[in-house]
Amino acid sequence: MEHPATHAIPRLQVRNLNLHYGHFHALINVGMDVEDRRITALIGPSGCGKSTLLRSLNRMNDLIPGVRITGEVRIDGVDIYAPGTDVCALRARTGMVFQRPNPFPLSVYDNVVFGLRVAGVRGKETLDAAVERSLRAAWLWDNLKDNLYGSALALPLDQQQRLCVARLMAIEPEVILMDEPCSALDPIATAKIEELMLELKKQYTIIIVTHNMQQAARMSDHAGCMLLGEMIEFDGTQRMFTNPRDERTQDYISGRYG
Ligand SMILES: Nc1ncnc2c1ncn2[C@@H]1O[C@H](COP(=O)(O)OP(=O)(O)OP(=O)(O)O)[C@@H](O)[C@H]1O
Ligand SMILES: [Mg+2]
Repeated sequence: MEHPATHAIPRLQVRNLNLHYGHFHALINVGMDVEDRRITALIGPSGCGKSTLLRSLNRMNDLIPGVRITGEVRIDGVDIYAPGTDVCALRARTGMVFQRPNPFPLSVYDNVVFGLRVAGVRGKETLDAAVERSLRAAWLWDNLKDNLYGSALALPLDQQQRLCVARLMAIEPEVILMDEPCSALDPIATAKIEELMLELKKQYTIIIVTHNMQQAARMSDHAGCMLLGEMIEFDGTQRMFTNPRDERTQDYISGRYG
């Protein structure tokens, strides 16, 4: 079911993005438009730059020494690389879920409210409400409501991953970046995360990196195929998977390399 995109301009626009790790040119003139309330999948062989591109969308590459970035990444029309950008605020708007679930070694409750506490939120009622809302949004409330003070690290992996989603929900991001969020999970846990993503897409802009072609085809509305640092094709998922414009996309999708 399609939900109306609320933005006239794409939620996120990448233009002529170039990134060097030292002398290595890892992103080459990358461009894409990402729509609100849609799932956009990034695919391509290992090492083609998918994670690098994802990290560029919330300026996480800034933390790596020797990185040079030129070009534009606009969120709601505003360039996040413009001088004066509040990078902390940016990262709160563009939350990231990683390959391995990475809950903090704290209780479930303290994980969920971590970002809020960092932002200075204190009232117990506010925090309690945020915990319930976020755990519900990540479909964990029924599992965890009686175990809020138990250790997050003791949870099964798929619950840890959904707790990481709940931790994002608490800070109410606009864009959710997911870097192979299911690669450490078994098929049943993967199905749960996928179902959750379809629910989250009613409210959020989601960009997911995946090596799982079935997952990309099933879940995403738009897809970008990268190769050696370039975005060789960006299109509607159905179009890309049925009738790709670039032979190299076809080769990748059909498993000829990568
Ligand atoms: N911190 C870094 N310093 C130097 N080179 C890097 C760094 N991170 C990534 N690279 C290089 O940049 C290229 C793109 O890496 P990236 O991790 O973005 O690829 P990827 O498409 O996410 O691959 P995978 O599917 O294996 O996760 C690779 O050649 C990689 O070796
Ligand atoms: Mg990667």
